[in-house]
Amino acid sequence: METTLILLKPDAVERGLIGQVIARLEAKGLKICGLKMMQLDDAIIDEHYDFLMDKPFFPKIKQYMSRTPIVALAVCGDSAISTVRTLTGATNPQEALPGSIRGDLGLTIDGNIVHASDSPETAEIELKRFFGGENIFEYSRGVDGIL
Ligand code: CMP
Repeated sequence: METTLILLKPDAVERGLIGQVIARLEAKGLKICGLKMMQLDDAIIDEHYDFLMDKPFFPKIKQYMSRTPIVALAVCGDSAISTVRTLTGATNPQEALPGSIRGDLGLTIDGNIVHASDSPETAEIELKRFFGGENIFEYSRGVDGIL
């Protein structure tokens, strides 16, 4: 069982796609273990995207990620980290395959709908960053026994 972090980015919130994205995760069998709406400030964006700080598009990412609140999800399930990365599709929606979240719902890299942790190490760090070790819940669903 793994837990991963997903951010529903400002474009997902602005376009009313919160429900659609969560429905795809749940339909796959993944469990929502934490859910939080947040207005991101400079400090958390700088920390989350520090590996992109010297890229020319970094100011654009900061503007994008802070223009509207985001929704942070803690998502649990078997191989949740790689499964969610497959469901989200390639970073650039123009390269993401149809059937994936970005492939179906996104058009350009400037609005790629979601962020998802890319490894167990990153998931641990990112879950701490956005949930601070709190409000991630363990609970059973009726369907858990048949998934
Ligand atoms: P994400 O999966 O959150 O990880 C890094 C983010 O940087 C990525 O999604 C995009 O939002 C953003 N990004 C990556 N490459 C570019 C680019 N060439 N132009 C603008 N934004 C980018």
